[in-house]
Amino acid sequence: MLDIQKIRADFPILTQKVNGKPLVYFDNGATSQKPQIVIDAEVKYYQEINANIHRGVHTLSQLATDAYEISRGKVKDHINAKFAHEVLFTSGTTFGINLVANGFASILKPGDEVIVSSLEHHSNIVPWQMLCEKTGAILKVIPINENGELIIEAFDALLSEKTKIVTVNHISNALGIINPIKYIIDKAHAVGAAVLIDGAQAVPHLKPDVQELDCDFYAFSGHKMCGPTGTGILYGKEEWLNKLPPYQGGGEMIKEVTFEKTTYADLPHKFEAGTPNIAGGIVLGTAVDYLNNIGFENIQHYENELLEYATKRLLEIEGLKIYGTGKNKASVVSFNIDGIHPYDIGSIIDKLGIAVRTGHHCAQPIMNFFCIPGTIRASFSFYNTKEEIDQMVEAVKKAQTMLS
Ligand code: ALA
Repeated sequence: MLDIQKIRADFPILTQKVNGKPLVYFDNGATSQKPQIVIDAEVKYYQEINANIHRGVHTLSQLATDAYEISRGKVKDHINAKFAHEVLFTSGTTFGINLVANGFASILKPGDEVIVSSLEHHSNIVPWQMLCEKTGAILKVIPINENGELIIEAFDALLSEKTKIVTVNHISNALGIINPIKYIIDKAHAVGAAVLIDGAQAVPHLKPDVQELDCDFYAFSGHKMCGPTGTGILYGKEEWLNKLPPYQGGGEMIKEVTFEKTTYADLPHKFEAGTPNIAGGIVLGTAVDYLNNIGFENIQHYENELLEYATKRLLEIEGLKIYGTGKNKASVVSFNIDGIHPYDIGSIIDKLGIAVRTGHHCAQPIMNFFCIPGTIRASFSFYNTKEEIDQMVEAVKKAQTMLS
């Protein structure tokens, strides 16, 4: 259904050679490449309307403000939020999670419980540990099985009236496992707990519907979905964003400032102190349009083909083990080869033009569970091809021969 060669022509970086070989970019889990339309939009902003937003009456400031707010509206429609003011611009997923964790410091009491999962990125573990240290709340962890799936009965057993917030990723960055978040959200709500979904690895592959999910918070990054680095979104239900205190103090987040007392601006500005990444926020809207023009059904269908093909081809290699073998997966394959450190494979195939991530992927508890130092992670996007997968497989075989 997708014309992949036409799509690839949108991405100038894909024609590059790296180490003298055509680039095969399989590190999309870390960041996606950018289509020309996104690059052009960033340049156009600086060439034509660069000005600070929400501040001046002058024309450029109005143009920049309008473009920024139009982009917020695009994201609102994209994730089906009820209100545009539930969509906060952030610098990325990490910022969004920290904003919520920081806000919960004013809600939690000693003995309250926070549930995270064993599949989390460090950015969805550490802020909650810091919160627990600050408040005396207790961190509970949903375990995983050998397939890398959450043990859902164990989650059920952890829930109680002490649970105040549950925070899980939609898709695991290290393994690609898609979590049953609708079930988790409904169950958590049944005990009165809030739910934050880390959608960083989901938004490049699917279109989340926050009202259908009924999550309280959904955080994601722009740079993994063809947008600029330093951009992100925190969706929060209006009632929660009203309840949480501001995260940062500064300009634009206030109604009135005196030395006796400051009152805060309405949503979303209460959480958007200081001059934001204006160009990035505007261009994130361009990236959202770009992806929607390709169509998320098309993206999912094609990426599933890539996942199946890569899994089959990689398993032809003797001694290769895939981590994250659950059924419900995004286009990510994490693997190791018997007796060889993942870093060594990654370094050799880099010389052959293949870009993958090696290491613990900021998810050390997963590596500890499998008793491994890390994995080689190939994460695919809709602009990758089966031919590239073949090149990776040949490169990995070559590395294996050299290292054995
Ligand atoms: N979180 C990003 C990754 O998984 C950086 O690679």
